[in-house]
Formats: sequence, C-alpha cells, structure tokens
Amino acid sequence: MLCIGHRGAMGHAPENTLKSIAKALELGAPWVEVDVYPVDGHLMVIHDNRLERTTNGSGYVWKKTFSYLRALDAGQGEKIPTLEEVLDLISKRAGINIELKLPGTAAWVTKVIQERIRTHWDVKKFLVSSFNHHEIAAVRQFDPRIRIGALIAGVPLDYARFAENLGAYSVHQSIEFVNREFIDDAHDRNLKVFVYTANHPEDIARMHALGVDGVFSNYPDRVLSFLGSKPARTPEGLRSAKLE
Ligand code: G3P
Ligand code: MG
Repeated sequence: MLCIGHRGAMGHAPENTLKSIAKALELGAPWVEVDVYPVDGHLMVIHDNRLERTTNGSGYVWKKTFSYLRALDAGQGEKIPTLEEVLDLISKRAGINIELKLPGTAAWVTKVIQERIRTHWDVKKFLVSSFNHHEIAAVRQFDPRIRIGALIAGVPLDYARFAENLGAYSVHQSIEFVNREFIDDAHDRNLKVFVYTANHPEDIARMHALGVDGVFSNYPDRVLSFLGSKPARTPEGLRSAKLE
C-alpha cells in the first residue's frame, strides 16, 4: 500500500508549504501530493481557492498578483510555494501527485513535467490528478507518457468505468465512499485505487484490509509505521479481507 503525504505532511506542518513537503520527505513518504493553481504566470501550491483559511491574506487566490501572494504568511512564516520550488526541493527523492484545481492548468503542468523528464526525472514519479476530468484528459492528450489519476467522491453506477475511459492510471476515491465493489471493479479494469484521506490508525488498517493500492495521509509516519508492523499482503489475505 503506497503512502502519499497529503499536502506534504499537513498533520505536522502548514499544508502545501516547503516545510510540509520537507517533513513528508524526512518521515520517509515515498510520494507527496500538492494542490496547484495557475496565478499571474506561476503555478502556486495551495489548496483553497480563497486565502483566508491557510494564510494571512484574503480574497480569491487566482485574482492576486504573484508579489501579493509571496508576501503572505502561509503558516509558521512559510510562503506559498511554486510548483517549481516544490520540485526543486523534492529533487527526485519522491514521487509527486500534482492535483489541478482550476481549468486551464493542464498544458502548463505538462510542460513543467516534460522539462523535468528532460533532466532525467522518471516520468513514473509524476501523477497528475483532478476532480475536473477534462483537465486530466487534456494532460493525457498533451503527453500520454504522463500518468493521470481521476479524483472522485462518490460511487458511480458503472463504478470505475469513467476512469478506464479516461485512460487513467489510478482512481482517487474518498474514504467516505470507497467500498469493495468499487475497488474490485477498478482492479478488474487494471486501475490503482488511492484513497483520501486516511489519518486515523483504524482507517489506515481498514484501507489496508480492503486492499487499496495507496492512501493519502496527513500523517505519513502513521501509514509507514503501520506498514512496518504488517507482513506484506498476500492474495489469500486480501480474499479473506473481502469476505469479512
Ligand atoms: O488528492 C487527494 C485529495 O487531496 C483530494 O482532495 O480537497 O484534499 O484536494 P483535496
Ligand atoms: Mg488535494
């Protein structure tokens, strides 16, 4: 089960900041997830479309200038980072899931990833996701080498079929909605299932027993210590978990 640090390691440091990414790496997270908005010529790493919750600024992120955003405190004196800064910090040490929050981000993010691939980053260390499936479809069209993950919060009538149709590598399902039928259907379609967000130890254990392929967690250390204490899953173990 893959451990993906949610917004870095937001249980330990201000979300989506370089401090949070550094913490996730320090804890040993093999992957980190960040949220991205295109603003004033830069790809800014922040979750909300407004500034109030995570910074000392106010208003819509996408209406601001780069210099306004950079002057803000995103928690503990951290600045809102750019995607380039996050990639420089990671420096090939972990995989990165880039979640696109606004339409019109796909071409730009594709270009950024292509530049990194040219400097010998493994394309498999990138995963671009969005709730806006048009955006990830565009990424795939721009560069079919780049893996895409379809975010969802619900159980469609035809389960994971939409993700297969998109040519997705993975489907990113909410912990509120994930169930065995959905996981089995996704696996039958050769899709990975990554679940957001597993923070409580009971949730982490429950997701592991369900056989999901990865979890996003605000506390990557909890996932890693759970995995360290568990023997690897076997097909038999997963079958019996499904029968519970
Ligand atoms: O990508 C997983 C998760 O981050 C999706 O939801 O709202 O936390 O960006 P959100
Ligand atoms: Mg996200």
